[in-house]
Amino acid sequence: MKHFLTLLDLTREEARFLLVRAAELKRMLRLGERHHTLPGKTLGLVFDKASTRTRVSFEVGMFHLGGHALFLHSAATQLGRGEPIEDSARVLSRMVDIIAIRTYAHETVQRFAEHASVPVINALTDWTHPCQILADVFTYEEHRGSIEGRVVAWIGDGNNMAHSWINGSVIFGYRLRIASPPGYEPDPGLLQAARALGAEVELCGDPWAAAEQADLVTTDVWASMGQEDEQAQRQKVFASYRVDDAVMLRARHDALFMHCLPAHRGEEVTSSVIDGPQSVVWDEAENRLHVQKALLEFLLGR
Ligand code: CP
Ligand code: NVA
Repeated sequence: MKHFLTLLDLTREEARFLLVRAAELKRMLRLGERHHTLPGKTLGLVFDKASTRTRVSFEVGMFHLGGHALFLHSAATQLGRGEPIEDSARVLSRMVDIIAIRTYAHETVQRFAEHASVPVINALTDWTHPCQILADVFTYEEHRGSIEGRVVAWIGDGNNMAHSWINGSVIFGYRLRIASPPGYEPDPGLLQAARALGAEVELCGDPWAAAEQADLVTTDVWASMGQEDEQAQRQKVFASYRVDDAVMLRARHDALFMHCLPAHRGEEVTSSVIDGPQSVVWDEAENRLHVQKALLEFLLGR
């Protein structure tokens, strides 16, 4: 049995296999070909935080695969009243076949996985958001071919998405440049561990330096879920870390722009960029569906 708590839970070959399968599943859906590979299987979605894309892609994905998904917002379960994570993991494992969790502390997902007897997927923690990177790499390659050796520029917070881009460099072999304000850089321990596994990651002083001749420019909100009370402070700190036309001009002329969404136009990205010709954010959002269907099949051994 395998869990998917970070990208590093996959080998390079497994990750590649998932992207190939995602493309097949996408094609079958487009052609209206039935692909009920998980009949009778149930996915439990245990969420502590808000979600649009992740919830909908998992629920619709299970429906396409002939299975069923159960959305369990923790506030409406006994978890929200203090039932231990360990007990919840044991009980849910007796009833569902696979579980995806979105929560705050990464340790919560790890504890859940330790006590679950079915595969557990990280559907976002404060630490990482690995499902999103599968979709992002898939989207890049749909538009531009192999991402290996390409330059990805991350502009903004050293947050869960930045961490997953770092881990993705190990698995997918792109070069990553990160421009974060001082004090908001990615976790040095995670960075060191990824570098030891071969990640090529450079911390850059400013967004222009990071974007220089980049193949892909990407960013995320300045205040993530759970950081709402830091919003005003972060707006000041991150003011010069916005992806605007000037940043995109530093990148290659055929560079793409991505954002995991939800986005705040006028904060981390201007509308001219996110709604402009280099942006592939709607494909990126859709592709969550296809890659996660491949992931569900893979973890369930289909
Ligand atoms: N990108 C992403 O995970 O979106 P949601 O928060 O809407 O699930
Ligand atoms: N960094 C963001 C990503 C949302 C998909 C957050 O954690 O809120």
